[in-house]
Amino acid sequence: MSGILAGKRILVTGVITDGSIAFHAAKVAQEQGAEVLLTGFGRVSLVERIAKRLPEPAPVIELDATNQEHLDALPGKIKEHWGEDARLDGVVHSIAFGPEGAFNFLQGGWEDVSTALHVSAYSLKSLTTACLPLLHEGSSVVGLTFDAQLAWPKYDWMGVAKAALESTSRYLARDLGPRGIRCNLVSAGPIKSMAAKSIPGFEELADVWNHRAPIGWELTDPDPAGRGVVALLSDFFPRTTGEIVHVDGGVHMMGA
Ligand SMILES: NC(=O)c1ccc[n+]([C@@H]2O[C@H](COP(=O)([O-])OP(=O)(O)OC[C@H]3O[C@@H](n4cnc5c(N)ncnc54)[C@H](O)[C@@H]3O)[C@@H](O)[C@H]2O)c1
Repeated sequence: MSGILAGKRILVTGVITDGSIAFHAAKVAQEQGAEVLLTGFGRVSLVERIAKRLPEPAPVIELDATNQEHLDALPGKIKEHWGEDARLDGVVHSIAFGPEGAFNFLQGGWEDVSTALHVSAYSLKSLTTACLPLLHEGSSVVGLTFDAQLAWPKYDWMGVAKAALESTSRYLARDLGPRGIRCNLVSAGPIKSMAAKSIPGFEELADVWNHRAPIGWELTDPDPAGRGVVALLSDFFPRTTGEIVHVDGGVHMMGA
């Protein structure tokens, strides 16, 4: 098999529909020669059905990224598929959730905010450390953010959770760099995924992209974000870590 991920083994979290960014990351990864294992949150049989739509149907491991037992069991489950001496060349973190209350900044209570932070930011650290026994020099961890440098309409505490995710990625890059493990994020423009549909007022937020993306942006196309993830998983960013690559049609750099 040829391609920029030829011979690599990649764990992909966050597939729930074939519109998930993670689904497209997994698809492009397979097209580029990788062997892929998926994790599914809760609705494992649904994720297994979706996994059959990949070029190569991929096995699914159950993982709630906030459940320490699931995290502790993860390396063992990966070894059930890939053998006792299994190594992981890449991990994709494509996980976010905020309760409805987290999308109202002034009213947002700590219970809702802490859930958003736990699932969407701290989980990058939990997932990465859970996988650490299988990671090695040259392995790459890639997560998905939504540009947290700016205050957006409606995004509210999820924006704060993304700021925490971006910082978490930098600290992981600092601590895992000496082991030769990279950690980077793709900052994607808005995509009409299941997660996006649960954001009250997503359309208003997404409409910015209809007017400000100099090379254009398609709200229904997760493929560019998936490709960005695969590029960062590959050996073509060998000395890039703690970085955020914008796959957003250029909106992040437009003044007006
Ligand atoms: N859709 C967008 O507009 C957009 C833009 C930029 C970044 N992102 C980010 O991309 C990532 C993927 O989102 P998506 O848009 O593909 O939506 P999605 O709904 O397809 O994926 C979100 C995933 O998070 C998983 N998840 C939620 N709670 C979990 C938990 N406790 N443990 C494990 N998994 C859990 C869900 O099962 C789901 O698979 C998220 O980090 C999201 O914030 C999305």
